Amino acid sequence: MPVVVVTGSCGLIGSEVSMFFARQGFQVHGVDDNHRAVFFGREGDTSWVLEHLRRQIPGYRHAALDIRDREGVLALIDQVRPDLIIHTAAQPSHDRAAAIPFLDFEVNALGTLHILEATRRSCPESPFIHMSTNKVYGDRPNAIALKETATRYEYDDPAFENGIPEDFSIDQSKHSLFGASKVAADVMVQEYGRYFNMPTCCLRGGCLTGPNHSGVELHGFLSYLIKCNVEGREYKVYGYQGKQVRDNIHSQDVARFMFEFWKAPRVAEVYNLGGGKANACSILEAFRMAEQKTGRPMAHRYVEENRSGDHICYYSDLRKMKAHYPGWDITKNLNHIFDEIAASWMARLAAPTANSIE
Ligand SMILES: NC(=O)c1ccc[n+]([C@@H]2O[C@H](COP(=O)([O-])OP(=O)(O)OC[C@H]3O[C@@H](n4cnc5c(N)ncnc54)[C@H](O)[C@@H]3O)[C@@H](O)[C@H]2O)c1
Repeated sequence: MPVVVVTGSCGLIGSEVSMFFARQGFQVHGVDDNHRAVFFGREGDTSWVLEHLRRQIPGYRHAALDIRDREGVLALIDQVRPDLIIHTAAQPSHDRAAAIPFLDFEVNALGTLHILEATRRSCPESPFIHMSTNKVYGDRPNAIALKETATRYEYDDPAFENGIPEDFSIDQSKHSLFGASKVAADVMVQEYGRYFNMPTCCLRGGCLTGPNHSGVELHGFLSYLIKCNVEGREYKVYGYQGKQVRDNIHSQDVARFMFEFWKAPRVAEVYNLGGGKANACSILEAFRMAEQKTGRPMAHRYVEENRSGDHICYYSDLRKMKAHYPGWDITKNLNHIFDEIAASWMARLAAPTANSIE
C-alpha cells in the first residue's frame, strides 16, 4: 500500500487530498497542528476536520506537528518514508501576513524547506507536490491591458486570451509578504527538483474552493462570500467596483491533478492550477449566483480602496496542464461549485456540530 504524507491535512486542500488518496488505496499520514486557528481565531478552527478524517479514513495517522519544528519534521519523514509528499500546510492569507511577518515566513518558506530537505534525506525518489499560489506573480497581471464590461474586467490582450501562463514573470512586482514567502517556497521546490533531480512540482493555485472550506474574511473568497449570503452577513467589497475576476477550482479537481502527477511525475515542474477562463467570475457575478442558489439577498458594502497588490483580473491558462496530463480536466463547473458550497453552509450553519465533509 503506497503511503502519502499530507501536510495541512485539516485544511481545505489537505482534507480533500487526504480523503481522495485514501480512496485510491493510500495509507494517509496527516500533519497539521491547527495553526489555522492561530492565524484566524475560532472561525478558522479545523479540529472538526481532524475528527472527520479519523472517522472516515481507515488507519488514518495524524501528527499534530508544527512544520517549523525542523527536528520533528526530519524525524517524521524518516520514520514514515512516504511514497508521495503533498505539502499544503501554510499561512494562506495575502492580507494576514503583514501583521505576522515572522510567523508567515517561518511557516511558508522555512517550513517548506524543512519538508523538502527531509524528503531529500529520506525518500528523494518520492514525488513532492507543493501547493503554491498565483500570488507569486505579484500584481504584475494588473499591467495587462483590460476592458471593462457591466459586471467584470476582462483581458484586452490576445496574448492572454487563455489566461496567465506559467512563464509569466514572478519578478519586480508587489506580492504582499505572503506572496513573497510563497515565492521563496516555490523557487526552493523548483530548485530541489533541478539541483537534486527530484520529482517536484509547484501548483500555483487560483481560488481553490469546495464545501469543506472553513472560509473566513481574509481567506477563502467563495466560501466566505456564500457563507455571508446564507447568514445574511454583510460582505465587504474592496475596490475595482466588485468587477475583479477570479478563477475557481474545486478541491477535488485539485486532488485529481495531483493523482495524475503521482502516476507520471516530472522534475521541477510548475503549473497554474485554477479553474481557468470557464470557471472565472467577478465578485458582482458571484453575488448574483449566490442569490440565485439560496434565494437570499446579498448584503454588501463597498470599500473604495482595493486590497494592496490585489489582482484586477486573474485566470489560469490550463493548456500546459492539459498537454502534460491529457487525462485531466476540470470536472466541476462554477454552477456545481456554488451548489455544493451553498448546500454545505446551509447544513453547517443549521446544525453547527454536524459539520460534514463529502
Ligand atoms: N484556498 C485557496 O484559494 C488557495 C489558493 C491558492 C493557493 N493556495 C495554497 O494552497 C495551500 C492550502 O491552502 P488551503 O486553502 O487548504 O489553506 P487552509 O488554511 O485551509 O489549510 C492549511 C492547513 O495547514 C495547517 N498549518 C498551517 N500552518 C501549519 C504549521 N506551521 N504546521 C502544521 N500545520 C500547519 C493549518 O492548520 C491548516 O489546516 C496553501 O499553500 C495555500 O497558499 C490556496
